[in-house]
Amino acid sequence: MKILLTRRLHDFAIKELKKRYQVEIHTGKIPMPKNLLMSKIRDKDGLICYPYDKIDADVISAGSSLKAISTFSVGYDHINVNAASRRGIVVSYTPEVLTRATADLTIALMLDLFRRVNEGDKMIRKGRWKTILGPYEFLGSDLYGKTLGIFGMGRIGMAVAKRASGFEMKVLYHNRKRILPQKEKSLNVKYVSFDELFRRSDVISIHAPHTPKTHEMINLKLLKKMKKTSFLVNTARGKIINEKDLATALKRKIISGAALDVFGNEPIDGSNPLTRLPNVVITPHIGSATVETRRKMAEIAVQNLVLSLSGKKPIYQVKVESSRLDRP
Ligand code: DGY
Repeated sequence: MKILLTRRLHDFAIKELKKRYQVEIHTGKIPMPKNLLMSKIRDKDGLICYPYDKIDADVISAGSSLKAISTFSVGYDHINVNAASRRGIVVSYTPEVLTRATADLTIALMLDLFRRVNEGDKMIRKGRWKTILGPYEFLGSDLYGKTLGIFGMGRIGMAVAKRASGFEMKVLYHNRKRILPQKEKSLNVKYVSFDELFRRSDVISIHAPHTPKTHEMINLKLLKKMKKTSFLVNTARGKIINEKDLATALKRKIISGAALDVFGNEPIDGSNPLTRLPNVVITPHIGSATVETRRKMAEIAVQNLVLSLSGKKPIYQVKVESSRLDRP
């Protein structure tokens, strides 16, 4: 069988794959240009891809021998799962192993916003720390006693709630479905409406998937409902936020600040207005980027592909929910 990797993976993973398949690895421009992807997929049985590879209906139909798609990510909004399923192609992904790493980064960003870590670093490097700070200069705020609003209470949302309770924060959440009462109790979280979540929280953290329903769901109208002193953290998907609206809200101080690991179109550079705002902390989509987590993701991505191509169920198969996944 022949497989395509849209970029290099860990050496051990490539070795594993080469034991079984004829492996082609794209080494050029990232993401792989659509035309190239469509021509390379033509004779392939399997594909390992990444969140920035758009695996749309055209790519899927070009892959006439394609039997399995394994994405190196928990998110799968870049794959038209319905088109794949209509062709009997198994789509798999890598959830669970990256839950802790992503939740850790979320807390790191939240702490940065509350305690102005990045701002302090920049101030010193620019040579602007001229005097010993006085008792009411460069103050941040306590996490203790503050209300965290989690939008999307899946695995990562729950891991963030657990960590937040260590900081003695109050946690509210909104999710498509309310979680079980026992789970709410053990996590010490309270379900509220979407509106209430944004009105009451001191910091909102997004952990929902990007779907047609959540697309740019966070817009100016919603941001205006938040407290002036509040923050927004996004380690999920950039397209859940209307970035132009967020930039406006931050510029006009409608909210106090934001920390973003994900963006509508990645990678971003200095031309993105968000990079020019002092009240924004930005990281380059590194939610799962730890040595340990990325290795586990590689193991799972390989196992998912191998199992799917041998006609077995992968470890993590994406389920088809037609309302959610007929995209891109
Ligand atoms: C994912 O796995 O979906 C994360 O965003 C990292 O790419």
